[in-house]
Amino acid sequence: MSNYEVAVIGAGPGGYVTAIRCAQLGLKTICIDKWINKEQQASLGGTCLNVGCIPSKALLDSSHLYESINKEASEHGFSVKTGNVDIAKLQSRKNIIIERMSKGIAGLFLKNKVDTLLGSAKLLDQHTIEVSVNDSEKEVIQAENIIIATGSVPVELKQVSIEKSIVDNEGALAFDEIPADLGIIGAGVIGLELGSVWRRLGAKVTIFEMSPDFLPMVDREIAKEAFKIFKSQGLNIKLGCKVTNIENDEDYVSVTYEDSSGEDEIEFEKLIVAVGRKPNTDQLGIHELGIDFDNRGFIVVDEFCKTNIENIYAIGDVTNGPMLAHRASKDGMTVAENIAGKNKTVNYQSIPWVMYTWPEIAWAGATEQKLKDKNISFKTGKFPFMANGRAHAMNCPKGMIKIIVSDEGTVLGVHIIGPNASELIAAGVTAIKHQHSYTTTIDEIHAHPSLSEAFHEAALDIEGRTIHF
Ligand code: FAD
Ligand code: NAI
Repeated sequence: MSNYEVAVIGAGPGGYVTAIRCAQLGLKTICIDKWINKEQQASLGGTCLNVGCIPSKALLDSSHLYESINKEASEHGFSVKTGNVDIAKLQSRKNIIIERMSKGIAGLFLKNKVDTLLGSAKLLDQHTIEVSVNDSEKEVIQAENIIIATGSVPVELKQVSIEKSIVDNEGALAFDEIPADLGIIGAGVIGLELGSVWRRLGAKVTIFEMSPDFLPMVDREIAKEAFKIFKSQGLNIKLGCKVTNIENDEDYVSVTYEDSSGEDEIEFEKLIVAVGRKPNTDQLGIHELGIDFDNRGFIVVDEFCKTNIENIYAIGDVTNGPMLAHRASKDGMTVAENIAGKNKTVNYQSIPWVMYTWPEIAWAGATEQKLKDKNISFKTGKFPFMANGRAHAMNCPKGMIKIIVSDEGTVLGVHIIGPNASELIAAGVTAIKHQHSYTTTIDEIHAHPSLSEAFHEAALDIEGRTIHF
């Protein structure tokens, strides 16, 4: 039996960041994770690094480059033609990135003196963890503090097994051929990002979405613009659509659905199911321990990420809140500091959300709709990338930045659809987090030519005095 001050279960962006921070703060720490790759080796980094954020962005970047070369090179004056996509090479580039970054986490653990154990963890009591390191071998860890960072898994559709021609995010990131016809259930973040990847590489993509509204969590004006752009790119998005039957075979999958035009059936080579994710708490033994769960199965925690059991914390996707890597990491940093005697709380009010489509969509803070629902009055300023020189130089003068401010001028929300929105939103996060007035942005000098000038202009628009529009 080994003794630790902190044992972290899960080495995703929540768990590994917590473990490193705990060790930095002088706490004797172990991180336990069960993830093994196809080569049967440990692969630290969780969903995010193995089958989420990083591999999806690797494929998004590859496919974006492919589409840019094919569709835009001639506009720049280059006679370049891409041949067929070498899908094995594309996938191996992605896998090399995963391996490199996962080894990087192992290196960080070594540097910070975090012990690692590969295996599946189960809590025997509030201080004891049993880890199955293989079929016959178990190790027992005693820990003063336990942090559950076991993440999430895909929601399954009733009567639809992930087999043959039907895949979840993991399978959709690993296609070894480009499907000629690809169906996707769910026009959420995964559906749109992975739908974009395979569309750019040549698949005909149809997305079935049960909600009549497109991206209901996004500012309505931005969502409307996004829908228009994605349709024009060739994504066939069917809103308010009920999938009534699915036939799954080795070579094809057939989807029957109903929408406002009636019932129809489409055959696909592959079907991706991307209808949300749920907390991963199976096999942890925590139900027996009396830990509180909410009605959706998330572990209930307070603002310190503490469960109802004094020395047990839970962070990231396994608890209710934004299912985002940076949120999991922030939770983990907070817990580490609290175990080390500080008094930190989490607050997701200014957390950025990004969809890595092209153009990208990013937002932080309140939407107009949320403020209207709460009867809070506000003003907005907007600026279109169509009037931004850098966006033209980048061949993407599409979308806009919108800033929402209170009557007093405090920035409440920032909403962007446009090139590099994932980077631009950082300025919005700063303004919202520190309750800046939009006049702070007006007072700043932004580089020319840059996309950030659109941010400056959106702030000017609140006073009705944009220069370039
Ligand atoms: P996870 O990353 O899920 O890690 C949990 C870890 O716990 C896993 O390694 C697992 O092996 C381990 N574990 C589970 N049970 C046990 C056990 N009993 N014993 C031992 N180990 C265990 N978020 C973003 O912010 N940006 C993005 O661009 C983004 N893209 C995404 C793309 C896709 C396709 C998907 C699916 C998700 C994406 N996300 C993105 C969401 C992001 O991946 C998650 O929010 C994030 O990984 C949550 O981190 P976590 O540490 O809570 O859990
Ligand atoms: P999601 O919640 O974003 O979208 C799921 C969609 O499926 C919703 O629009 C929902 O209405 C629809 N749906 C549910 N059941 C359906 C049915 N039976 N038929 C048709 N449509 C149905 O979930 P998704 O895309 O699976 O992603 C899970 C989470 O992972 C995201 O919410 C996000 O937190 C995280 N993620 C983050 C990314 C990023 O930050 N860029 C990228 C990918 C995922």
